[in-house]
Amino acid sequence: MTESSSWVPEGVNTELPSAARVYDYLLGGGHNFPGDRALAEELVRLLPARDMSRLNRAFLRRAVLHLLDAGITQFLDLGSGIPTVGNVHEIALAADPTARVVYVDYEPVAVAHSEMLLREVPNADVLRADMREPEKILRAPRVRELIDLSAPLGLLMVGVAQFIPDDDDPWALVARYRDALAPGSHLALSAFTWDNAPEGMAGAVEVFRHSQDPIFPRTHQEILRLFDGFELVEPGLVYTPLWRPERAEDVGDNAARSNLYAGVARKT
Ligand SMILES: C[S@@+](CC[C@H](N)C(=O)[O-])C[C@H]1O[C@@H](n2cnc3c(N)ncnc32)[C@H](O)[C@@H]1O
Repeated sequence: MTESSSWVPEGVNTELPSAARVYDYLLGGGHNFPGDRALAEELVRLLPARDMSRLNRAFLRRAVLHLLDAGITQFLDLGSGIPTVGNVHEIALAADPTARVVYVDYEPVAVAHSEMLLREVPNADVLRADMREPEKILRAPRVRELIDLSAPLGLLMVGVAQFIPDDDDPWALVARYRDALAPGSHLALSAFTWDNAPEGMAGAVEVFRHSQDPIFPRTHQEILRLFDGFELVEPGLVYTPLWRPERAEDVGDNAARSNLYAGVARKT
């Protein structure tokens, strides 16, 4: 049976899994196709992929709350994904009704679903773009309308840096964003690492090769370098559940099985 309904934008390749839809499935969402679900189930056999997704999403929420506490009221969310529980604009607008959010993703299902959700939300919008084009994104008319680059911004790159290969120099990419931001801006970033489960992660690399979004996990040192030119806030770059957990039980007995490092840093 072909899966087509109002939420499937025209021209989507439903055969080739996408990271956005695999993540949606792992988080219990309904915007995914059989190929996405099959890939996700392969991942679950290699790594605790459901927990990894849930813990990453929980980090996103805590990071946004931290940035709001630090006085940040505008957010650029790169690789924002398919809207699900705890979207950035919901967290931000609940804390400050004047907050503004621009989501960026290149996956058409993620963008179409975000557009639908944001139709009645004047303070937030979504841009379909490749995050590897910072100048284009930062100059986009809707970004300019919603975001004031002369004021501190919350730049979110949560669960996305592993999709940028070394050949595309993710370190230089983050630096291009950093250089465009006002002092006091913050970067919140999490990314897949090899460090805890090298074999499982190597399996995941192989599985994602058969998707629109191959992955490139990195070591702690390599991910740390993405924060060059920023000052990491406490506790530094740590496994996602260890980043300012709200309750001891959220950490569990093996934080490393989150397989993603996370950090928040300030541009001085
Ligand atoms: C794992 S999801 C993370 C979603 C959300 N940031 C979160 O942490 O809950 C990664 C998202 O990044 C998007 N993505 C990957 N590479 C991208 C690129 N070069 N430009 C824009 N989006 C990208 C994917 O389409 C996917 O929606």
